[in-house]
Amino acid sequence: MLDNREKNQQIQPEPEGYAMASLRPKFFNEFTGQQKTLDRLLIMTNAAKNRGEPLNHLLFNGPPGLGKTTLALILGNEMDSAVKITSGPVIEKASDLAGLLTSLNRNDILFIDEIHRLPKTVEEYLYPAMEDFRIDIMIDQGPNARSIRLDIPKFTLVGATTRTGLLSSPLRSRFTLQTRLDYYNLKDLTQIVLRSAALLSMDIEPSAAIEIAKRSRGTPRIANSLLSFARDYTRSALDMLEIDEHGLDEMDKKILSCIAINYHGGPVGVNTLAIAVGEETHTIEEVYEPYLIQEGYIKRTSQGQVIENKALTAIGLPINRNLQGEFIIN
Ligand SMILES: Nc1ncnc2c1ncn2[C@@H]1O[C@H](COP(=O)(O)OP(=O)(O)O)[C@@H](O)[C@H]1O
Ligand SMILES: [Mg+2]
Repeated sequence: MLDNREKNQQIQPEPEGYAMASLRPKFFNEFTGQQKTLDRLLIMTNAAKNRGEPLNHLLFNGPPGLGKTTLALILGNEMDSAVKITSGPVIEKASDLAGLLTSLNRNDILFIDEIHRLPKTVEEYLYPAMEDFRIDIMIDQGPNARSIRLDIPKFTLVGATTRTGLLSSPLRSRFTLQTRLDYYNLKDLTQIVLRSAALLSMDIEPSAAIEIAKRSRGTPRIANSLLSFARDYTRSALDMLEIDEHGLDEMDKKILSCIAINYHGGPVGVNTLAIAVGEETHTIEEVYEPYLIQEGYIKRTSQGQVIENKALTAIGLPINRNLQGEFIIN
């Protein structure tokens, strides 16, 4: 019979393929970085084990590729619980949710990815499930309509979202722990690259690991895919991907030059910017903007994005501003 750990291995969805699946850390001690989150999770798992109770519900938020799914699977392994994975948009109706919840065993972890995309009508059924481990389902319609109460085994809900702002406050408040994952620093990312290289049996110079880490936008998923790309195409792999030593890719540079040149350094609103560079607004907001802001390339003001001098240098423009601070190109 399979134990839960083996089961968790089998069900983990891995868009990047099998090679990448093997790179996922399986236990806390294999997970680098995010110290604040790890400390909190350690306290929670120890407390749950001591009480002999399932883990409290918890919510991960942060940009894609930083380890939300990985941590949910690690929690399963650390608690020796099975992890069931689903995602917000997949649960369309209350009955979908009821089906999922009633199939759980005690101590199981239900991982709902993109939980901010859970339909509002479904969300309300989740409250009693999280609080009292029951769900009230309406059956039939009109005069025959009645609600039946189903008990659910004590389980743990782990939610993940790239946008906590979109989560309703009743839902948010039902998570005992809410923790944010941040972009990784160069040191942690380099260590992740070295670990992945070892798992892929690659011989890599520490200096090459640093070069890859620098270009990975603080994101382990990008680091791992650059690493496997570099393995497959040795010759100037990073140049072929058009990623420069600042970690900026083509779209980053397009965004920065658009703000600088078309909008005189800004401010420019994100919707306008999205149209100008031909990308979806939410992609700009979730993928590009957070990194560019964190690294000090742009600054957010109430009127929109403004370019910083660091960005002008990175895209090879002179730091030329008029008295109003507008960027001028001559
Ligand atoms: N702290 C970490 N150490 C090592 N590898 C990591 C770490 N965090 C993420 N990864 C790797 O990055 C990939 C993306 O992580 P994932 O958990 O899927 O991100 P998210 O769910 O936040 O989008 C995983 O395949 C995993 O191998
Ligand atoms: Mg994920």
